[in-house]
Amino acid sequence: MFLAFLVSPAAAQNPGAEEANGGRLWQLGGCFGCHGNLADGAGDGANTAGPSLRQSRLDREGLIETISCGRVGTLMPYNLAGAYTEVACHGLPLGEPPATVTRGGSFTEEQIGTLADFLVEHVVGQSRITRENCGAFFNGNADAPLCRQY
Ligand code: HEC
Repeated sequence: MFLAFLVSPAAAQNPGAEEANGGRLWQLGGCFGCHGNLADGAGDGANTAGPSLRQSRLDREGLIETISCGRVGTLMPYNLAGAYTEVACHGLPLGEPPATVTRGGSFTEEQIGTLADFLVEHVVGQSRITRENCGAFFNGNADAPLCRQY
């Protein structure tokens, strides 16, 4: 993809660059820290505070809502910049987020859409991890160290 090479120096210095793809956003958001490197929860023996997203039944809208607003009273954080304060979540009036939900990433709606598309395409409903599927988490690089075992 030609456009991928048109990264300005400013964007290159900013780890939250708008150009980030879904796999990169997965890293930036720290999602792997709870859901496992490849979103398979306990499956890959990584940190497992969160469930496997491969078994999720959420559709794109459900994914966007969960990622944007988090789940109150659980470890699932909100990741939309301005969630609760500027964008209503869970039907609550605008204001400080409830004390029982924490902040994760700080993404735009567009980035969360990219992340949801990534999950729909490579994760949800896909319990079998192939080398190629693994590579999707690393910008399409199926030779990434973590993928060599598949
Ligand atoms: C601190 C741990 C933690 C982090 C970081 C985290 N999650 Fe979660 N996530 C959870 C937990 C725990 C749940 C289950 C919440 C519940 O009980 O409903 C969850 C639930 C979800 C669900 C709903 C799954 C379903 O089928 O109901 C999605 C989607 C999700 N997380 C995506 C993400 C994404 C994308 C990121 C990164 C931007 C992320 N999570 C970061 C802990 C985390």
